[in-house]
Amino acid sequence: MQTATTLDMLRNAQAGLRAGGGSVALVPTMGALHEGHLTLVREARKACDHVIASIFVNPTQFGPNEDLDAYPRQLAEDSAMLEAEGVALLWAPGVEAMYPSGFVTSISVSGVSDNFCGAARPGHFDGVATVVCKLFNQVMPDKAFFGEKDYQQLAVIRAMARDLDLTRPHVQDIIGVPTVREADGLAMSSRNRYLSPEDRANAAALPREMKAAIAAIEAGADVGNALATLERRLVEGGFASVDYAALADAQSLAPLTSLPPAPARLLVAARIGGTRLIDNMAVG
Ligand code: PAF
Repeated sequence: MQTATTLDMLRNAQAGLRAGGGSVALVPTMGALHEGHLTLVREARKACDHVIASIFVNPTQFGPNEDLDAYPRQLAEDSAMLEAEGVALLWAPGVEAMYPSGFVTSISVSGVSDNFCGAARPGHFDGVATVVCKLFNQVMPDKAFFGEKDYQQLAVIRAMARDLDLTRPHVQDIIGVPTVREADGLAMSSRNRYLSPEDRANAAALPREMKAAIAAIEAGADVGNALATLERRLVEGGFASVDYAALADAQSLAPLTSLPPAPARLLVAARIGGTRLIDNMAVG
């Protein structure tokens, strides 16, 4: 596996890769890799001839009081994991390579980014859309792979690709991969490592109570009551607070107050200890 840390290195390495022909997949990450990321790489390998993974802890998607400095960085370990999975090229730029001085551009995707994490983390999705657009332009992949764990992020990236007529990748080649879960149902996340043993055990209430809320909604319960019960049970189960628990249209992410015939999604963000966890599941 080659590693590029500057745009020149990336272009040279890509020229070598593309000279032999074949399709290229991109798996963008912020590192601190776990089985969820490796599943993205495996799906990418099945779909394309070459996989390029990126690791960049993107400062523009963190708010002023968020965990940018504390975000786990373990490049050597991540690099070994990617190599073992058959990744051809690791793109690991520094902040200067991604945001050289004088950088002034930002992409803002309204609508799908307005609610939920977009409301709770102002500017977060502008940072995500901007860096992902840059990664797409730098790597020019045939396909790109993202986890459905960050469901709203995936919707924002798809809307950005559609609206800006991106062709590498085209919007339909932005692939969402189902969330990978621990044995107790907790969605895998780089932030799970912040949890104390007690909070980690209690965190399993999140997927468990989400499933209970979905069962109630699908059985005809009032959506508002089911969501209020979900929030109450999370707090009783050890969560400090719930940022949001919402039912939304699976495509537009418009909030819903009743279960429609179209696919819907339950989206939750909740805090336990000092850690904010998010999860989402299909409803209906
Ligand atoms: O999901 C992530 O790890 C990040 O938000 C992404 C897509 C790599 C952009 O920084």
